[in-house]
Order: sequence, then structure tokens, then C-alpha cells
Amino acid sequence: MSGRAVRKIIAANWKMNKTVAEALAFADEFAALWSGQGGVEVVICPPFTALYPLGQRLQGSGLLLGAQDLFWEERGAFTGEVAAFMLREAGASHVIVGHSERRHLLGESDADVRRKLQRALQEGLYPILCVGETLPQREGGEAEAVVCAQLRAALQGCPPSPARLLVAYEPVWAIGTGRNAEPADARHMALVIRRELESLLGRAGAEVRVLYGGSVTPDNVAGYTGMVEMDGALVGGASLRPESLAAIVRRTEEAGHAT
Ligand code: PGA
Repeated sequence: MSGRAVRKIIAANWKMNKTVAEALAFADEFAALWSGQGGVEVVICPPFTALYPLGQRLQGSGLLLGAQDLFWEERGAFTGEVAAFMLREAGASHVIVGHSERRHLLGESDADVRRKLQRALQEGLYPILCVGETLPQREGGEAEAVVCAQLRAALQGCPPSPARLLVAYEPVWAIGTGRNAEPADARHMALVIRRELESLLGRAGAEVRVLYGGSVTPDNVAGYTGMVEMDGALVGGASLRPESLAAIVRRTEEAGHAT
């Protein structure tokens, strides 16, 4: 792991929350709390409707913009879907792919996730690929196998050097439950993910940034982002208030200085 020059990243997944007005108010309040000098990348992923106005507001701020999903086709007759080039035009650099809420609540398959991931990479976006096991899978001792299978399925046919790829380990049982994974378990899974990435992608696998997600808060974030194996966090509920997100970023900056 040594020698990896990695900037930690905090990605805020707002899910189906915030109007345009609320998103803009958040941006103004957060800007007042965030110096931008701490070396941590911050990506805000609002709902589609707020992407463009928020992107305009964030210009020159140093904050990055991400979408929560995309469609795999380039363009055309796909009612209700949003294309990668539209996300780019709206100002997004990142896009979440294969979030467990899409996999489990909306029936997104491994094949769908693969197509979306490939489209995102093709169009120059930074995909944040989400993987993670359910509680029965963890209790059945299958967590590693499930996560590795999700990675293999998503990266099948992937271009050999996915320099822009990020992977978020998000155990499904930890998302929105207040029951965050033990940092030691998250570290173990990060190592499992890294090993699988290196076997799938060769040396390029070492460059992929691996994040933890699932009930991250200001109080527990440093336990994850402070370790060298973890390159950041994907934060849902605790990213909805500017003070809370700013505290998460600050704790990550401090944890980085301490290691
Ligand atoms: P949570 O969500 O932080 O609210 O658990 C994380 C996520 O779904 O990415």
C-alpha cells in the first residue's frame, strides 16, 4: 500500500432529499464552514433536479459535483433516464453506480451496474461503484464472496486502466441504520476489495480509491478515513446538514495529518 499518493475523498449522497432552493442554501452555508485547504476532496451528489443549479453555484468553490445514477445508453428513446453527457453538461464529474438502494429496492442487476459503470468511464466521469453484502450474507460468512462477485461482474470487460474508478464498500445492513461497521471489519473488506481489484485489473487496481459507507457520522468517520487502506467515505444521512458534513471533512483532514 505504501507509495500510494492518495487524496482522501468525502462523497455526500443526498439520495431523494433537497429542493433546488435547499441545495443552494446548503452550498452557501457549507462554503462558509469549509476552507478547501485541507487536502480532502468533497463531492456533493444531489438529486438530478438540483445538479445544474448546484453546479453553477459551486463553480470556483473547489467542491465537486456528482450524480446518484446514470443510464448506460448514450442517448435516445429511454423515457425517464438521464445520460452521462447530460450529467457532464450539468457540471458533474462523479456518479454513484450500483448503490444498494438501486440494487435491492429497484431491482438493478449486476449487468445493469456493469453497463452503467462502463458508460460512466467511457464518458469521462468518475464512477463511485458501490458494493456490499446484506446482513444474512454477512451472518452466513459470505461477505467476501458477495463483494468480490459484485466487483467481478461490474468490471467484466472494463478498460484495462480504470484510473478514474472509485469503489465504495457499503455493507447493506449499515446503510441508514445507525449501525456502522467496525473499522477493523471495514479495513479487512477494503483489503479484500484491493486484492480483487489487483487480480482483475493488474497494477491499475492499486490506483483505485476505496471508500467506506454506512452510517458514517462526524463521531466515527476518522475510524475509517484515518487508516491508510481507506481512501474516504460515502456519507448519506449525515451529509444533509452543512455543519455535519463540514465536521466529517474536518475530522478526515485531522485524521490524515495524524497518520
Ligand atoms: P448512510 O447512507 O450514511 O445514511 O448510512 C450511506 C449511503 O447510502 O451511501
